[in-house]
Parts: sequence; C-alpha cells; structure tokens
Amino acid sequence: MTTRTILVTSALPYANGSIHLGHLVEYIQTDIWVRFQKMQGHTVHYVCADDTHGTPIMLRAEKEGITPEALIARVHTEHLRDFTGFHITFDQYYSTHSDETRYYAEDIYLKLKAAGLIAVRAIEQLYDPVKNLFLPDRFVKGECPKCGAADQYGDSCEACGAAYAPTDLKNPYSAVSGATPIRKASEHFFFKLSDARCADFLRRWTREGNHLQAEAANKMAEWLGEAGENKLSDWDISRDAPYFGFEIPGETGKYFYVWLDAPIGYMGSFRKLCAQKGIDFDAYWNKDSAAELYHFIGKDILYFHALFWPAMLENAGYRTPTQIFAHGFLTVNGEKMSKSRGTFITAESYLEQGLNPEWLRYYYAAKLNGSMEDIDLNLDDFVARVNSDLVGKYINIASRCAGFISKRFGGKLVEGEDYRLLQQMVDEHFSGWQPGVIEAAYEARDFSAAVRHIMRRADEVNELIHALAPWEIAKDESRLRELHRACSLGIQMFYLLSCYLKPILPHTARQIEDFLGAGELAWQ
Ligand code: MSP
Ligand code: ZN
Repeated sequence: MTTRTILVTSALPYANGSIHLGHLVEYIQTDIWVRFQKMQGHTVHYVCADDTHGTPIMLRAEKEGITPEALIARVHTEHLRDFTGFHITFDQYYSTHSDETRYYAEDIYLKLKAAGLIAVRAIEQLYDPVKNLFLPDRFVKGECPKCGAADQYGDSCEACGAAYAPTDLKNPYSAVSGATPIRKASEHFFFKLSDARCADFLRRWTREGNHLQAEAANKMAEWLGEAGENKLSDWDISRDAPYFGFEIPGETGKYFYVWLDAPIGYMGSFRKLCAQKGIDFDAYWNKDSAAELYHFIGKDILYFHALFWPAMLENAGYRTPTQIFAHGFLTVNGEKMSKSRGTFITAESYLEQGLNPEWLRYYYAAKLNGSMEDIDLNLDDFVARVNSDLVGKYINIASRCAGFISKRFGGKLVEGEDYRLLQQMVDEHFSGWQPGVIEAAYEARDFSAAVRHIMRRADEVNELIHALAPWEIAKDESRLRELHRACSLGIQMFYLLSCYLKPILPHTARQIEDFLGAGELAWQ
C-alpha cells in the first residue's frame, strides 16, 4: 500500500453561535474519515478554525459590551470544548483572526490584483444613518414586497418565500437602530469571476477530475451555464468600515468581506500547524503539490467552495482542492431544527444531559452515505438503533464471553493447539468476510454501508456464540477447554469488530484497548 499525504478540513463555524447537532453532522463525519485514513497509516492533517469576521460578530460583541476579540476568544474556547466533548480531534483548531490568515488573504488578493482580476465599482446599498453603518441584507427588515408580511428580512420572506433585494422592501428599517435606511453609494472591490480566465477554468474544473459529487457538479453546471454564456457575475469582496475583519492592503476604510478570508482560514490554520510540527506548507499548497486536499462542507456553502475558492486559488498560483465533499442538512424528527419544538439541540446541552457522544457518532455514521441528501435524526429511532446495534449486537459479544475468561481462565485467551482450533473455527464460519468492503465503504464516506457490513458480522458472531452456548458448556467441568475456546473466539471477534468501529467509536476503542491489554487496535 502506498502512503498518501492528505490535508482535510471541515467548514469553519461562525464565531457568533453555538455548535449544535446540525453542525456535528459535518464535524463527526470528517473526524470519522480522518481517523479511518490515519488508521490506514497515511499522513493526515485535519485542520479547522473559527470564522470570526463580519458585521454580525461586530454587532454581537457591541451588544455584549465587549470587544470582538474578547467575543471570539470566548467562543473559540466553547467551540473547542464542544468538539472535544464529541471526540472530534483536530490537528489544529485556529482562528481566521490570525496573522497567518491575514498573510494569505493579502497575498492572494494582491496576486489576483496583479493578474487584473480585481475591479473597483461604486454600488448603492442601504445605510443606517444613525449607526453610520452599511447594512447587510439580514440587518434590514420591512414589509415583503410581494405579500406584504411585516418584519421580513432584507433577502427573503419567511411568509411567502419570495427572494428579493433589501432595497425592494416596503417601509424598511434598520434592525440595528430602527432608523429608516438611506441609499448610499460607495466603492467596492470585485473579484472578476466573469473573466474568461475564471469562467473557463471553472467550467472545466467542475466537470473534470472528479472534484465534485455528481449532484454538486450538476448544480454548478446550472450556475455556470454553457460556454459563451456569461452567467457568472463578479463577486463583491469588500465591505466598508466599520467592519470587523482585515483591512484591504493599500486602501483605507475598506475591508475584506468575511467570505474572502474564511476559506483562506484553512491555509492559515494549516500554516500554524506547520510552524508547530515542522511541516512544509508549500509542499501542500504549491501548484504542483502531490498532497491531497479535501474540504468537507454543507450543501449550503457549495457555491463558495466550488466556484469562488478554486477560482481564487487557481488565479493566485496555488493548487486547487482534490475534492469537495458536500453533505446534506440535519432534520430532527423529519423537520427543520426548531427552538420552539425543542429540537434545536446544542452540543453542550446534549452532553449536559449525560448523553453519550458516541451514540450520536454511531447514529450519524449509520445514516451518512456520502451524498448530499439531508439526514434525519429521529429520536425514537436513535434510541432503538443504539440499543439494538451497539448494546445488543456489539457489546453483547464481550458481555457473553469476557466474564468466563476472567473468572475461569485467569483473564487469558487460549494458546497453542487450542488457538489453532480457534482459528479453524474462524475460517470455517467467517471465511466469507471480505476484508476490503468495509475499507471501501469508509473511503467512499459511505459510513452507513460500513456500519451495515460491521453489524452483519456482529450478527454472525452472535449466532455462532449462541450455537456454542458457553453458558451451557460452563455447567460441565469436563468441557473446560471447549468453554475456553468458545469464549476466546468471542473475544477475538469482538477485538476485530472493535477495529472496524474504531473510527466511529474512538473512546470505546480506547477502553477496549485497555480492557484487552492487546495494544493499539490497528487496521492491519
Ligand atoms: N462560516 C461558514 C463556513 C466558512 S468555511 C470557509 C459557515 N459557518 S456555519 O457555522 O454556519 O456552518 C458550519 C458548517 O456546518 C457548514 O458546512 C454548514 O453547512 C454546516 N451546518 C450548519 N448547520 C447544519 C445543519 N443543520 N445540518 C448539517 N450541516 C449544517 O457556514
Ligand atoms: Zn412575502
């Protein structure tokens, strides 16, 4: 097997909200895949960070009476605590508000500028004359231009679903101060996505090289249109002061829009890791890099990762991602998570209830298949699934056999001739187990298939133990060797199943390593 060199990211969570069970679909999925790849012996780095810039974070800090820096420092601690609570193990969890991210943001911007891919144009936007602030769409409210519903956001109506521009709202007001916004012009910086160098590149990149899942590639094709057709518009990458972010080099009062530096935060976080571990950053990001680069993201941010990001990297002379892995959204009991229904569950509250984080890891794994379909957390099914699979099938194997091994055999499994006989039984009963299928399922992020294969095997082991009936043999002193063999077989198979489950249940795997005293559970 050849050793691969892999850099993996999860999307950077906003620093103004708590981690909830929806987020965890992504971070658990990535963590499982990373753990699997590490178990294969590959060189893998998993980096993430908080996404710290933008108007909402600035306003939230102001509301709390603290600086944005203090806010993002606090949230960073909370996020990392939540992730750790779910055994999500980053090699680096950093912040976009860092020297490293600033460095690459400026570097990429200046390279795009030198390539003639930055345009400057004046645009008109809604402005809060009391706060002296340009208002992002979500901070303008008013009556829906279509159905007249009151108190709708500036981008879309929750009553009738209409999408519009904030300037279309009737009787608009600023959600920050309540003032009536005025229209005000200012100069903005644009990344010229409509330039043939971007559009042609993206048309190729999204279609060739297996960079995107088929469903994602189709979405892109819709956005990109046919060659010659110009559906891409230039991307507004600047915001005016006051703004919490990086000031654009060479300009005053102009800041990079948060989505410009957010993906660059992947580089910033990795750069930090490189400094700590002595890794060669360029070997991962140079145009001719042999390393693999994967971004796990939700389907809502595909546009940023499959269009803007590769176009930025390509035209600034960096390598582009190997693949973008997009997943669907979490629903709870078939509906969007909702605070009023009590299904908006934070990572913190789940853990505070004393619920085991590995139950959720297992449940998500059993549902994730590498596609962009939404996944549903059905709370009854969750309980049933954990009980039947983890407790009833998997742990049950050890419970049925371990007691005898420790009480009757001094905690030792069979050796010598009896071990040979045990192996014979394994060959006889489990020769149909194909080692490659679980590996292939993990590799393809089809964790639901991996779980299905593993649990089918657990069923087979349980059937054999049931047939051997150690609890019956134990009644007969003359059948001690047989009892020892049967229980050793059970433990041996439990050991194997624990290896297979280790990417999903890393904490249990650790406990089993201690319990069995057999060293680290390794894939080989
Ligand atoms: N800050 C941006 C990402 C920048 S990446 C350079 C962002 N943050 S987020 O906090 O809103 O979401 C972080 C990740 O969690 C995204 O990939 C998003 O799709 C995912 N999810 C957020 N809510 C989710 C669900 N309810 N279900 C599944 N994934 C969800 O977007
Ligand atoms: Zn409406």
